[in-house]
Amino acid sequence: MINPHGSDQLNPLFVEDEAQRAALIKEAEGLPQLLVSSAAAANCVMLGGGYFNPLTGFMNLADSLKVAKELHTGAGVFFPVPVVNLVKDASAIAGATRIALRDPNVEGNPVIAIQNVDAIEEVSDEQLKAMAEEIFGTLDESHPGVSTFLSLGNQMISGPVQVLNFSYFENDFSETFRTAVQIRKEIADRGWNKVVAFQTRNPMHRAHEELCRMAMDDLKTDGILIHMLLGKLKKGDIPADVRDNSIRKMVDAYFPENSVMITGYGFDMLYAGPREAVLHALFRQNCGCTHFIVGRDHAGVGDYYGAFDAQTIFDERVPEGSLDIEIYRADHTAYSKKLGRVVMMKDAPDHSKDDFILLSGTKVREMLGNGIAPPPEFSRPEVAQVLMDYYQSLTEETAGA
Ligand code: ADX
Repeated sequence: MINPHGSDQLNPLFVEDEAQRAALIKEAEGLPQLLVSSAAAANCVMLGGGYFNPLTGFMNLADSLKVAKELHTGAGVFFPVPVVNLVKDASAIAGATRIALRDPNVEGNPVIAIQNVDAIEEVSDEQLKAMAEEIFGTLDESHPGVSTFLSLGNQMISGPVQVLNFSYFENDFSETFRTAVQIRKEIADRGWNKVVAFQTRNPMHRAHEELCRMAMDDLKTDGILIHMLLGKLKKGDIPADVRDNSIRKMVDAYFPENSVMITGYGFDMLYAGPREAVLHALFRQNCGCTHFIVGRDHAGVGDYYGAFDAQTIFDERVPEGSLDIEIYRADHTAYSKKLGRVVMMKDAPDHSKDDFILLSGTKVREMLGNGIAPPPEFSRPEVAQVLMDYYQSLTEETAGA
């Protein structure tokens, strides 16, 4: 099986041993407490599950600045985004060497991890902005990732973590949430060698479905990992449970049995386009996948990124040998009326827009909200039904409010 990133063995930071975990939970009660951001809690989930191998915890300021600018730490570990614990006020943990991190996303704010404090550093606004500009390619605060990053705070707490649970993901998405350790194991159990991963934060329409099929056929894979983001999204994005339901219906009806693993990971969407694509590839390698699909405007938002910037970054910013996973690059896919199937646009003889069934996100939302299914060439009826039910429940709630 493909090696994890940066080491021969996956070193997840979740404390697997129950007795040791119970002892740490007890210890945490007596430690200085820190309520962390949703982003930091999600980082704990990713570190705990082995997704961010080989990191051992939260980066310090020097590493964060270096990673933001050069995509590697001072010690030379390739990583495309800083993994940080930033808070506004660290006075409660002043002088502490070991602290309990409390989860903002679960009622009662239980402890999610224990962190050894290597340093508490003050990050200037200029440094925060410099990092944001490198990561997101913009400082525009209407970019959801930029506004979140710049609002985390100026106190950076670095050091190794021991993760004690997987936040709300384990309970709320028990069927779908999996750690990188579990995914590696399942791939091995299935006897798969060549596995392509598909990242998604949206329901899967025909273009996505066919893109997966094209990758499986072209690469001759043993299977595909449909791996959805389960964490926080921007307003207007489809909630994970609805998306999960629609994806399962689509896979059940249209993919051969035992060719798909439907799973999810606990991370908040960054909307960092190219940088996030590299992060996505890195953690799919940690999951044991050999290939990763990057299509049009991967992890993008608005028009901050060029349609294929998330592909070219692999040529421009990912030095040879940094990652072992290979990228499957896809052109814009859409249904060609002339060919009668979904194709990559570059492969269609007639490149005119009229040949393709293209609907904007806004148009699709409007149709679904009005109980109108998009054409079957665009959306499978099973998928459209789940989405219509969701949008109509929203309308009813709003109407009843
Ligand atoms: S993402 O933020 O998770 O990337 P989304 O779920 O919409 O968003 O996309 C998942 C993957 O499908 C990404 O690799 C994206 O580039 C690709 N993709 C989505 N729509 C298309 C399309 N019409 N043509 C080609 N690739 C697409």
